[in-house]
Amino acid sequence: MGVEADQELNPRTKPAVIGAAPQGAADAESAARAVRDMFTAIAPRYDLLNHLLSFNVDRLWWRKTARSFSDILARPEARVLDLCCGTGDMTFALRREGSETPTILGTDFSHAMLQRASAKSAGTSLRWVEADALHLPFPDAHFELVTSAFGFRNLADYDAGLREILRVLRPEGECGILDFGEPGGVVGKLYRIYFRHVLPKVGTLISGVKGPYAYLPASVERFPDPSEMLRRMHRTGFREVSWTPYTFGIAGLYRGKK
Ligand SMILES: C[S@@+](CC[C@H](N)C(=O)[O-])C[C@H]1O[C@@H](n2cnc3c(N)ncnc32)[C@H](O)[C@@H]1O
Repeated sequence: MGVEADQELNPRTKPAVIGAAPQGAADAESAARAVRDMFTAIAPRYDLLNHLLSFNVDRLWWRKTARSFSDILARPEARVLDLCCGTGDMTFALRREGSETPTILGTDFSHAMLQRASAKSAGTSLRWVEADALHLPFPDAHFELVTSAFGFRNLADYDAGLREILRVLRPEGECGILDFGEPGGVVGKLYRIYFRHVLPKVGTLISGVKGPYAYLPASVERFPDPSEMLRRMHRTGFREVSWTPYTFGIAGLYRGKK
């Protein structure tokens, strides 16, 4: 059961935020730089840690997200953009779900992450473009589908990110944002212990980099909750907005149509 588009959205339960703010970042520019440096630093161990720390459930979430857009992905003329693609696992899930025909592009602003995506995609038709999600090098109304998995939360300005997605989408085009949530109840309590205390320690140990794995739970806590996020999507101009929780709401898919 998800939160539906046009239903009355709950009042905000978290203070409004502009975007991600890693520790020490004074403005949007320094926040974006800190995020890029963080992902560049953990790029060599990113895939290993992703699968390990999520107990491989991440694969299921990418697949489910790709499946939700199977109708678009089946269209031979479809143009698809996967934003903040990192090492490309969401992009690969889109490729697997779609026929061989649609153009699928992955973009990220970390060169090191894209290098790994590129190495993993040898022999496929996937293409990778180094770009900032807030300033995409694509014309207006270009894509049938724009996705982002676990990347949107890291943008320095969420509303600007939504506006940029809307800009590059064709009329009737769809957007799918997969990101972490904060489950409630007993699952939520257990999950928070794991996410705040275990994950940062294991992440730091294996990546050898201090910071990114402490930033992760902090960024999820800071991220707008589903009703606030849907309100922002609606306000930006998306219609039929919805949120579908995955795995007790540990993650969830935001959808909207242009
Ligand atoms: C947590 S990773 C997610 C990668 C991949 N989508 C996945 O599901 O594994 C977040 C990615 O977002 C990228 N990112 C964050 N802010 C960005 C921005 N403003 N423009 C482009 N990429 C950005 C980072 O470089 C990083 O590779």
